[in-house]
Amino acid sequence: MPFLVFSCSLNPKSRSRVLAHGAVTRLEAHGADAEFIDLQELPLPLCDGATSQRHPHVIELRRRIVECEGALIAVPVYNFDVNAAAKNLVELTGDAWRDKVVGFLCAAGGQTSFMAVMGLANSMMLDFRSIIVPRFVYATEADVVGEQIADARTLERLDEVVSTLVRLARAINPVPQGS
Ligand SMILES: Cc1cc2nc3c(=O)[nH]c(=O)nc-3n(C[C@H](O)[C@H](O)[C@H](O)COP(=O)(O)O)c2cc1C
Repeated sequence: MPFLVFSCSLNPKSRSRVLAHGAVTRLEAHGADAEFIDLQELPLPLCDGATSQRHPHVIELRRRIVECEGALIAVPVYNFDVNAAAKNLVELTGDAWRDKVVGFLCAAGGQTSFMAVMGLANSMMLDFRSIIVPRFVYATEADVVGEQIADARTLERLDEVVSTLVRLARAINPVPQGS
């Protein structure tokens, strides 16, 4: 079963996407199968609670989430919250997240929106019993420069989030002996 890494920024120069790429590299270093899903390349309808769930991209994403071992959601912080594309992803895919181990990687402009993921994280815990990794990456504009993570603490935190995700997911769904 793969781990999914969602990149939810629609900005071509996204910093959270750099965090997501870094997570894929680290998952692979753990011997995990990691799949990168970029919402810039997989356009989704806005959730309308009616027909949007039947869109082929939504059906495909639901299946991939149901079948994944765990997931990371890389998000931009907008208006002290995750961006609308990340919220829309979860609205569209809903209970596919049931019992999944989920971590967050955030890119923000400054330090003050540190709790931005908590609304979405809480709703996933309450609604879908998702198991939220109790640490997340919070990178400011100074921490990601171009395609590089420029801050040592952010790199360390990314290592911690990825290793905790893998440890929790494998504790919940142990790999069968001999496979
Ligand atoms: C519409 C909008 C709202 C934003 N709101 C916040 C905010 O509330 N707090 C913050 O720290 N940064 C805020 N920012 C800055 C972004 O979080 C920052 O540019 C970040 O790099 C975005 O992630 P991305 O580069 O992956 O798209 C905002 C940016 C935009 C465009």
